[in-house]
Parts: sequence; C-alpha cells; structure tokens
Amino acid sequence: MKFCAVLLFSVLAFAQDDSIATGAMLFRTHCSVAYCHGSAGTPGRAPQLAGRSFTREHLTDVIANGIPKTAMPGFKKELNQARIAAIASYVLSLTGPAAAEPIKLERRDLPPELKAGRALFFDATRMGGCGACHAADGWGIAIGPALAKNLPADAAALRAYQSEHVRRAELQKEAPLPALPVNVGATIVTVYDLSSPLPVLRTFAASEIRLTPNGGWNHAGTLRAFSDAELNSILSFLRALQ
Ligand code: HEC
Repeated sequence: MKFCAVLLFSVLAFAQDDSIATGAMLFRTHCSVAYCHGSAGTPGRAPQLAGRSFTREHLTDVIANGIPKTAMPGFKKELNQARIAAIASYVLSLTGPAAAEPIKLERRDLPPELKAGRALFFDATRMGGCGACHAADGWGIAIGPALAKNLPADAAALRAYQSEHVRRAELQKEAPLPALPVNVGATIVTVYDLSSPLPVLRTFAASEIRLTPNGGWNHAGTLRAFSDAELNSILSFLRALQ
C-alpha cells in the first residue's frame, strides 16, 4: 500500500515535471525571443513573468488569445491545447502559488517629472536607451545589472561609470571588443558584445576567445544621445524606484 502511494506519487511528480520541462522548452522557443519575455521569466522588453501571481485560467487565455491592443500575440494557431497548458505550467512554476490576480499591463502611475524620466529610460528611438540594457520597474532587458542600489550621483558620474565586469575579449578572427561575460564554460563562451549600441549575445568556442580584465568600456559612448538634464531626469526616476 505504502509502496503504491510512493509509486503513484512519483508518477504524478514525474508527469508534472514532464509538463513543466516541455513548457520550459516551448517557452524558450516561443516566448523568450530576444525582445520579448526574458529567458526563465526575467524581464525582456515585455513584462517580467517570474515572481508574479497568475491563475492557470488567465495564463491559458493570454497564451492562447494574446492581449488585445498590445504586442502580446495569441498562440492558439501555432500550439495545441496540451502545449499551451505546458507553457502555462512552466510559467506557474516560476511564479509560485497562484493568486486570483490578473496580469497588469499598465505601468504604475507616477508624478509627471518621474514619468518623463521613465519615458527617456525606455525610449526605443534613441541609441543607448537604458531599457535596451537594463530592466527597471519590471520592464526592459536585464543585460546590465539591476539599478536598485549605488546609483551614480549625477549625469557626469553615470557617463564615467567604469564596470568591473566588462572584459576585453581578444578574438582569433576579429579586433578585440568589450564583452560582458554571460557564461564561461570549458568549451563554449557566451558574452554580450558591447561594441554596438544594442548589445549582441554571441557564442564562441573557448579556444577562439580570451577574456582579459579591464574592458575599457564605459557608458560615455552609449549615452551620447542624452543630454545631462535628461540623464539627471532618468536618475530621479531610478531613485524613486528604490
Ligand atoms: C549598451 C548597453 C547599455 C546601455 C544602453 C546602458 N547601460 Fe548602464 N550599464 C551597462 C553595463 C554593461 C553596465 C555594467 C554591468 C556590470 O558591471 O555588471 C552598466 C552599468 C550601469 C550602472 C551601474 C550599476 C551598478 O550597479 O553599479 C548604472 C547606474 C547604469 N548602467 C545606468 C544606465 C542608464 C541610466 C542608462 C540610460 C541612460 C544606461 N545605463 C544605458 C550597459 C548599458
């Protein structure tokens, strides 16, 4: 009897895991493409999914039918019910116990001066818009660090900020470039190539790349499209998030 219960339990656990694993695979291919939801539910340009509470019914509906008047498409033409259910299981596994709270797409209300900073932060029409490399307030792409602590005092300090994590990548077939390591394995090395204003995720064979300290990278080049007053307005917005 005990044995049966254990067996039943492991079969159920396995069945559930299997669905979450399938969902994880489907999420990677359908939902976590570069400028949408980040991998493993971290924020991309679309809202962050991890750590939020959704009901299964609501998630299934949103995945199948999308959200009208937004960039969120419906997937019911491409994915059958079982696959949509698997993606919902995976997202639920990231979000913890479900509560009866619908997905909120509106951004929180802010006073006008902070709204201006937020609009600049996510301004996709400018090269060097912060949201292309940083997440804030549940949006944006988290390539650089979360900007909660240690904010630079002003625009000048932000431009001059020197990262300890950005390396100089010496390559076999190309000129050296500033790179933010993502995954340094024995055979494969993945980095964000910061030589262009929109960072590019690149993978090299470990034998083709050497990461040396001091990338000599700072924000100055990237932030040329912003005036000091605009950068200060962005910093006020970020301070208000703390
Ligand atoms: C091209 C990508 C890119 C853009 C665009 C960009 N950043 Fe960064 N930012 C980075 C990287 C990379 C780092 C350093 C990451 C590290 O050290 O781990 C960084 C670091 C920072 C830091 C320091 C964080 C800390 O913990 O010390 C702040 C603050 C910051 N950025 C704010 C901004 C703001 C504000 C904007 C827009 C005006 C902006 N960034 C635009 C890539 C970018």
